[in-house]
Amino acid sequence: MKKQIKKAVLAYSGGLDTSVIIHWLKENYGCKVIAYTVDVGQGKNLKPLKKKALNSGVDKIIIEDLRKEFAYNYVLPALQANAVYENKYLLATALSRPLIAEKLVSLALREKADTIVHGCTGKGNDQVRFEVTIAKLSPGLQILAPLREWEMKSREDEIAYAKKHKIPLEIKKKNPYSIDRNLWGVSIECGQLEDPWVEPPVDAYQMTVAPEKAPGKPLYIEIDFQAGVPVKINGKKLPLVELIEKLNTLGGKHGIGRIDLVENRLVGIKSREIYECPAAMILTLAHRELEMLVLDRELLHYKELLSCRYGELIYYGLWHSPLREAIASFVKTTQKEITGKVRLKLYKGLCQVVGRKSPYSLYHHSLATYTKEDIFNHSSAEGFIELWGLPLKAKAMLEAEKRVVKSKKKR
Ligand code: ARG
Repeated sequence: MKKQIKKAVLAYSGGLDTSVIIHWLKENYGCKVIAYTVDVGQGKNLKPLKKKALNSGVDKIIIEDLRKEFAYNYVLPALQANAVYENKYLLATALSRPLIAEKLVSLALREKADTIVHGCTGKGNDQVRFEVTIAKLSPGLQILAPLREWEMKSREDEIAYAKKHKIPLEIKKKNPYSIDRNLWGVSIECGQLEDPWVEPPVDAYQMTVAPEKAPGKPLYIEIDFQAGVPVKINGKKLPLVELIEKLNTLGGKHGIGRIDLVENRLVGIKSREIYECPAAMILTLAHRELEMLVLDRELLHYKELLSCRYGELIYYGLWHSPLREAIASFVKTTQKEITGKVRLKLYKGLCQVVGRKSPYSLYHHSLATYTKEDIFNHSSAEGFIELWGLPLKAKAMLEAEKRVVKSKKKR
């Protein structure tokens, strides 16, 4: 049955899909359309979108800068958890979706709209992330995904539709890639990347130079953390958004943060995508390193198990789930003493930790050293090893006894 829509809030990017959607909604539903666009650090000026959306037929457009909220409420918890999907993807796109969905819901409630509309395809993860979040926050709101419903099958169909209906488009040179960018990184798919055997073409990369073209001299940087929050670069205090932007620039110049991945999407397919995330890569490495210095072994190892689970929950669109929230509060309690400095060396695509220190460091030189300052009690190692290995020894003794009984029976 066809949905009834009186007033819709549309997640609007200004691209081809969402521009066409505005007209299509008007034509098929005769509804009011409010466009909503957020700045999560795409790195482009969003102001021109206002005129563009109005020219495309929206009744109203709202543009919001959410970079700070994104950085503190989404990126930071992910960083503190060292969240990662399939060991590689640092989740830039996935992290922005629950925030955008949350804002779409509040706008819809404020504007008394009955429907939220998005331009995601039926094959991707983003539709799931948006819709699961919307349903969790406001189960009564209707959701419409035109790309899953309309007849248009290709970009060419959409361009023809736009031309027919005089929808303003900037038809630039056709970009073969689908690109989604924010503060935490850029996700790139389609074009030649669809062949997992083909090396990503140079023009696919958006924010990093090729490692072989990076400067021949390494760059050393120091990052300070305060209770799990990165606060300074080279001794200079920076708010989180600026700090991330700065690391994207520095890391990008040195070819840091390129990832090439065949990943398992939620909808069951494998897809080849590439990512660039200089700041995310540098910060995750530095943060983990400080944890290695400060957290005790058991806590560290246990927390490590959760990085991958937490990453999965983000990837799966389950930001607002009880499990994600419970892990987040656990992670929060582990961050109190993650204060200190990490020194890194950026060189031709490689980011290495070369130094770390913290007032909460559990590294004791007198315990670790092999010099005469050593205070480690070597003789207690003997008793320790005896008891540590006792279960194995007990088992070996039993097996030996059984062998004796067996050989006696044979005789
Ligand atoms: N595969 C990544 C994810 O699911 C990136 C998706 C990129 N989205 C896009 N519209 N290009 O998080």
